[in-house]
Amino acid sequence: MTVSTTSRVIIPGGALRGELRPPPDKSITHRAVILSALATGPSRIVHPLEADDCRRTAEAFRSLGVLVETDGRNDWIIVGHGLYGLREPDGGTIYCGNSGTTMRLLSGVLAGQPFETKLMGDHSLSQRPMARIVEPLTKMGAGISARDGQYAPLHIQGRRPLQGLSWDSSVASAQVKSCLLLAGLYAEGVTTVREPERSRDHSERMLAAAGVKLDMGEKSVSIRGGQTLNAMEWVVPSDISSAAFFIIGALLAPGSELLLRNVNVNPTRDGILEVLRKMGADVRLEDMRSVAGEPLADIVVKSSNLKATRIGADVMPRLIDEVPVLAVAATQAQGVTEITGAQELRVKESDRLKLVADQLNKMGAEIEELPDGLRIEGPTPLKGASVDSHTDHRLAMSFAVAGLVARGETTILNADAVDISFPTFWSDLEKLRVAS
Ligand code: S3P
Repeated sequence: MTVSTTSRVIIPGGALRGELRPPPDKSITHRAVILSALATGPSRIVHPLEADDCRRTAEAFRSLGVLVETDGRNDWIIVGHGLYGLREPDGGTIYCGNSGTTMRLLSGVLAGQPFETKLMGDHSLSQRPMARIVEPLTKMGAGISARDGQYAPLHIQGRRPLQGLSWDSSVASAQVKSCLLLAGLYAEGVTTVREPERSRDHSERMLAAAGVKLDMGEKSVSIRGGQTLNAMEWVVPSDISSAAFFIIGALLAPGSELLLRNVNVNPTRDGILEVLRKMGADVRLEDMRSVAGEPLADIVVKSSNLKATRIGADVMPRLIDEVPVLAVAATQAQGVTEITGAQELRVKESDRLKLVADQLNKMGAEIEELPDGLRIEGPTPLKGASVDSHTDHRLAMSFAVAGLVARGETTILNADAVDISFPTFWSDLEKLRVAS
């Protein structure tokens, strides 16, 4: 079990001003490592996310016999030996830490290997649902056992070749979809994944960039097995999910104006911008461009008076990771914000619906927990309190944003959880804070 012991105190007041290049995208870094490891020859990852989650994926492929090293520019160089170039890890076990993306995507790759691997995770990851990948991978021919049929540790006995599968996923999950696309590379015939709403499409974009042919439907994607991947140079843009804390911090702290550079605004990830605009936020995109198949922009945000809105299942996959910090915004918006269709938040790094409601209510928010979402009254004055991230990185950062506009000091327990996705969060926050 990972126990973190640090705390941080936020003294409220002041504005956020200046510019920041938020950290590189977590989802894209994971995928760049995986696709590079499965390609033939040296790939380069420019601006990889140097944070705990992505290091787990890099470490996993090292233990599978792939050379992964950092060069003098802090790029990652990965030398793949093709789809069939992995070897059994020493000791047979790979530790995925807190990272659901590592465990679920890696499972797709391991399902196609001629050896058995055990995947373990920390306390949080060991409670997250894995049946969503165990079931389809088993149907493809892999032998997988999970604790209670559902949880890590997973024992994966790969099979070569796997069988193509047509799968209707009950959840809109890019981790499930990506897991099955990776397994599909090792399968005979075609593998198709359909989802209830379209989830983030980085895997599709990046596989296509590496030379893999995919058939795309509106909410489905198909891949034919046996296709090989080209080695690539992957340039990782900034993560909109990390930018979100500063976007909302600047909206709420009076007198703020921030320029956030180089942010990925992929249309499967930009729900937060759409919702904030509906809430009356002054958020502008500048210098739209495309790098390595992903749309990027600089985001200019100024403090704004917000009004309540409804956030439902249709937009949820496009902003799922931003709901905790959107809830903070909603506490300061005029009216009642209703968030529904968000039941997946109960099985993220923590039960984010429960903890967002419990912890922000300690600060004076009026949040009612719904089975699949949150009902948030606004505006409510927040007061400093001691709040616990329960080692969930996105909660630690959301509570910091709440602390900026509270009366009195806020203490955030388990504050070093930010290392999972945004190791420089605390220093970046201090750098951008000015007296208003
Ligand atoms: C991710 C997909 C999402 C997201 C997670 C990263 C990915 O999870 O919440 O932070 O990189 O594929 P789900 O696939 O479980 O929705």
